[in-house]
Formats: sequence, C-alpha cells, structure tokens
Amino acid sequence: MTKREMLEELRAATRKGAPYSALLALLNDRIDSEIMDAAGKELKIIANYAVGFDNIDLAAAKRRGIIVTNTPGNQISDTVAEHAFALILGLAKRISEADRFTRAHHYRGWAPKLLLGTDVRGKTLGIVGAGRIGSSLARHARLGFDMEILYSDPNRNMELEKKLGARKAAFEALLKKSDFVSLHVPLLPSTRHLMNARTIGLMKKTAFLINTSRGPVVSEKDLLQSLYKKKIAGAGLDVFECEPAIDCDLTDRMELNKLENVILTPHTASATVETRQFMSELAAKNIIAVLSGRKPISPAA
Ligand code: DGY
Repeated sequence: MTKREMLEELRAATRKGAPYSALLALLNDRIDSEIMDAAGKELKIIANYAVGFDNIDLAAAKRRGIIVTNTPGNQISDTVAEHAFALILGLAKRISEADRFTRAHHYRGWAPKLLLGTDVRGKTLGIVGAGRIGSSLARHARLGFDMEILYSDPNRNMELEKKLGARKAAFEALLKKSDFVSLHVPLLPSTRHLMNARTIGLMKKTAFLINTSRGPVVSEKDLLQSLYKKKIAGAGLDVFECEPAIDCDLTDRMELNKLENVILTPHTASATVETRQFMSELAAKNIIAVLSGRKPISPAA
C-alpha cells in the first residue's frame, strides 16, 4: 500500500465512524506521525510484521500512547541466519555464477581451475551484532562448519564465548581479521553507512561482506566502488539501500547486477513457510493482547 492509499483508507474509516484501533504494518510501510494522526485517537497498536522496526516513528507513537510491537524470536532468527549462511556458502562456492555458466552452455569439460572457490571450514567469520540472529549464525558456522567466530557488539556475549569459543573484537579489528563479515545490527543513526569506503577498506582483499540486516547499513555507492576496484572478494546482499531498487543510482555505470561475485536476494532472508506463519501469529497475538487490555507479547522497545 502506498502512503497515499493508507492515508485515504484511514481517513475514510474515521469519516464512517469506524476508525482503526490496530495497524498491521509491513516493513516497507512507513508509519509516521501523519499516518498515526490519520488513524486518529482510537489507534492503540501498530504491530510490525518484521523484527526490524526502523519503518516506524517510535517517538511519535510514544507521544500518542500507541504501542508498537515486532516479531522477534528464535524461529525467525534461525531462518535469517540460515539465509546468511546460504549467502556465505553461495559466495565461497560461486554457486550463482556456476549456475549461470552452466545454463549458458559454457561448460566444455572438467578443468582443474574451472570456477575455483574457497573453503569455508576453518575460516574466520566476523559477526557484527551478536543478538539473536548473529548468535544463531555463529552456531551454524561453528558447529556446522568449524569456523572461527569473532563478534563485535556493545555487550559481551558469554554464551557465544563459552559454548562456541567466539572471541569479542573491536569492530575494526574484526573487519581486518575476518574472511566473511556478516552484518546483524538494527538500522539506527549510528549504524547508517557503518560499512563505507573506509571500513570496507579495512577488510581483507579476499573477504566477503554479507548483509541481511538493513540496506542503509552499507553505503551502496562505496560498496560498488570497492567491488569494482576489487578491494574485497564479493558480497551477498539480501537488503538494499534504495530498496526495492537494487541500485540507488541507475545512471551510474557501476551496477550490482553486473558483478559476478555478488549474490542478490530480494529481502527474503525470513521467507520460509514456517517463519511467515510464526510472524503472522505473533503479530496477530500482539494485536489481540493490546485490544483486550493486556500487555503486548513483544513490544518493539
Ligand atoms: C525483519 O524481520 O526485520 C526482516 O528483515 C524480515 O525479513
């Protein structure tokens, strides 16, 4: 739904004397003060159908006494972590590239150096943000593929350290040491363009960047330049700075989809039947709880 359509719908409902008391928002619905005002004083809850809630003006909701909820949990965390790991394997083994090559009938016979990739086991995975998703990825990587885990986070994660032998590192040290860097931070003013020309420049030339968090955490322009100049080995991206466009600047001669060493997925990291079921149920339960005068199950903040 566009913002205009949403405003029209909300105002029409109020005119009819049946204002909305709950909104179920998708992560691409921008819920700002104008939308909240159009919904009117009956609006009690905005249930976001996502873990991330950077699409909602939390301060504006708080001022109006509107509760905001999201859909966190192990179910969605493990699903997103699996997707991040799929991108890691896909990049290391050049799966998308090999698929395109084979479909184009370029395979003329086995050769020792055909589409050489890189091993994953024993390599260092740098996890930026060791919350639920980052921790789940650490488990997949350590227990499934014997990777060394570094993490950067404001808080120490003793469970990761004790169970997986993960080591906490300063953000820049992690970038310098990791073979794969995976981002798991929320989009905040402090994380916008966390990955930029300078920080990408700290990564190894042989390293890969994976982003399943939010597009603007990475400066797309700087990433493109770094990829074109071969400053890093490749990138796996599920989210984009100007989403749903996969390139912010279409007049630029550099384009993500021209690069072989990049895997792009359309913000589908949590798109499994099981997880979408979980997200729908949790969002609905939050709405029912608040409209029945109970506390929400998963308040956003
Ligand atoms: C979320 O829940 O925030 C994810 O981005 C959905 O895929």
